[in-house]
Amino acid sequence: MNQNRPTFYLTTPIYYPSGKPHIGHAYSTVMADTIARYKRLRGFDVRFLTGLDEHGQKIERSAKAKEMEPIQYLNQLADTFLAVWKQYQIEYDDFIRTTEERHKKAVQTIFQKIWDNGDIYKSEYEGWYCTPCEAFWVERQLKEVDNQRLCPDCDRPVELVKEESYFFRMSKYQDRLLKHIEENPDFIQPTSRRNEMISFIKQGLEDLCVSRTTFKWGIPVPINENHVIYVWFDALSNYITALGYGSDDQELYQRYWPADVHLVGKDIVRFHTVIWPIILMALGEPLPKQVYGHGWFMLDSGKMSKSKGNVVDPVELANKYGVDAMRYYFAREMTAGQDAYYSEESLIGRINTDLANDIGNLLHRSLSMVERFSGGVVKKASPEAEGPLEKEIQALAEKVVHEYSTLMDKYDLSGAHGAIFKLVGRMNKYVDERAPWALNKKPEARAELEAVLYHMVESLRLAAILLKPVMPNIPQKIFAQLGIVDREDLQGWEGTLWGQFPDGVTVQKGEPLFPRIDPATLQGDAEAESSSPKVAKTEKKGKAAEQKMTDTKANDTVTTTVVPEGAAQSAIEATQPPTTEAVAENLPVMDPLLPEITIDDFAKVDLRVIEVVEAERVPKTEKLMQLKVKLGDETRTVVSGIAQYYTPEELVGKKLVLVANLKPAKLRGITSQGMILAASNNGVLEALTVTKDIPAGSRVK
Ligand code: MSP
Repeated sequence: MNQNRPTFYLTTPIYYPSGKPHIGHAYSTVMADTIARYKRLRGFDVRFLTGLDEHGQKIERSAKAKEMEPIQYLNQLADTFLAVWKQYQIEYDDFIRTTEERHKKAVQTIFQKIWDNGDIYKSEYEGWYCTPCEAFWVERQLKEVDNQRLCPDCDRPVELVKEESYFFRMSKYQDRLLKHIEENPDFIQPTSRRNEMISFIKQGLEDLCVSRTTFKWGIPVPINENHVIYVWFDALSNYITALGYGSDDQELYQRYWPADVHLVGKDIVRFHTVIWPIILMALGEPLPKQVYGHGWFMLDSGKMSKSKGNVVDPVELANKYGVDAMRYYFAREMTAGQDAYYSEESLIGRINTDLANDIGNLLHRSLSMVERFSGGVVKKASPEAEGPLEKEIQALAEKVVHEYSTLMDKYDLSGAHGAIFKLVGRMNKYVDERAPWALNKKPEARAELEAVLYHMVESLRLAAILLKPVMPNIPQKIFAQLGIVDREDLQGWEGTLWGQFPDGVTVQKGEPLFPRIDPATLQGDAEAESSSPKVAKTEKKGKAAEQKMTDTKANDTVTTTVVPEGAAQSAIEATQPPTTEAVAENLPVMDPLLPEITIDDFAKVDLRVIEVVEAERVPKTEKLMQLKVKLGDETRTVVSGIAQYYTPEELVGKKLVLVANLKPAKLRGITSQGMILAASNNGVLEALTVTKDIPAGSRVK
């Protein structure tokens, strides 16, 4: 703790450990950790709190179902959560469990204080309760389907509860809360959530039942041990009990409260912007500066839920694709305020596009060219050698740093990371425009060449700084490859000013940091479809992206594209990672030749001319096109990974070549009866066409 620095206190929700964490939990925690690292980079004295919400009926029931004592059950799950956060390199300052003494005592103090000042009273509760959400509802708020009353938040059946209870006078604070929200537009963000809450509060706040008697797993009400404190009253208090509120040591509380931001999922914004501020008002304590409600990661099949058995495991994904790539995907994929759709295909797409093709390629090209054209040494650009394009790059770099920080300050992680890739994308184009390989052939263009190489490495240095909060490992590797790993002064926020890359540094080219992942290696077959999609697994765990994925694993619960066996070199994979030579000279890349086969081997492949009669994109995929093709008298359905290269209109009427005797396979639920042949290289793809009048169905030999 440094007393002179400004403080920044942020929190995640405390998770119910009613199962292993899934990617939704990982998302919130990665988001918080990225913001925490960003604020540290900006010089703040950051305090980052996360933890577990361990009381309540839901936990009691889950433990019972496992025939375990609640605490035994919780300890096991707490270890699992801690292990996942360790894997994701989450640097929290405190991890609170609500079963800890420090929390329980402080919650009782909070309850007692509010009782003493008259805002809690005893009465009888009769109403509805949703145990999965641990939420009370009144009749008018419920949904009704087939004569069954359902929770309006999660659509699950509610239970009728009738018991003696303590009530919290929320209604008394309704107007004060509304005024606070109206006068502080930043209190609830994004704005859409703010509007939802305003209309919710305007419908009228009921007093809240804050104790239960029908189960035991909770913190006893200090004035009546037959009651346990309502789990949300208990849980929300964690944000101050973790700072020592209600204990003898007030130092942390004095320093960090009020919180700068509570990051929460959209479903629990209501608890954080209604119940929590009113608890604080009743205590006479300041309110948090902001509650930020992020969207959800959804699956094509809808919500992830344990009961549906479709939760996606963040551990397995980090083992396959690496922690930095996963963290980046989380940050980039969810547009602020909206939901995001998870699929392994979108994950691979994001890794390949942004990381392999954009920054990985720029790094690879830059280092190769510095080695080839400048003996591995970066020369400071001389101002005379800088033309309008260089000025444009410098201005863009400045703009991107500004945009990144503005968006990070608003917790718009997707926008902020998108900004970084505006620079990276522009740089790849800049390299093509400036063609250093051509400058290298002209001795008189030496200074110009050095300036171009300088702009390439300098923009990479800046991008690596901006990627530090989201990626705990790769930026260090970029600095190492750029030859500046020991120069911490060039890696911090002050380093984001253009032009600090020193003269005469020798680069240290190493392994590609983001090898491209071949989506076609997400192998599967027709039988594997839907019930248990097969997912390609790397041979060595932890460095997935570096190996070819060959092996398959059944019973996995992640959503994935199922690709026909043997499709690894098909049109699905459109681009190859360019080699150094190819990049420097802009040459195409050639795959290694395959082992010799006999004419009989070849004759087993039945290639036919087909005519496309209908074409449409497969919904929610970027690459897949569904085709109806004519083959003699027969009409077949074929799914092909060519949607990024053709419009449906372009394909209809075309004669293409089909592998007609390939075992049918299901892709996204559609049975594909064959595979279209296509050639691809360096981001270009063309399906093989027959232009003369040769009827559909004719053999290709
Ligand atoms: N224990 C309460 C929070 C108490 S905070 C004082 C709780 N726990 S939870 O485990 O059910 O959910 C924790 C967080 O995970 C919530 O913010 C919730 O929105 C988030 N997510 C749950 N599923 C999610 C996705 N599929 N996607 C993104 N976040 C999701 O609620």
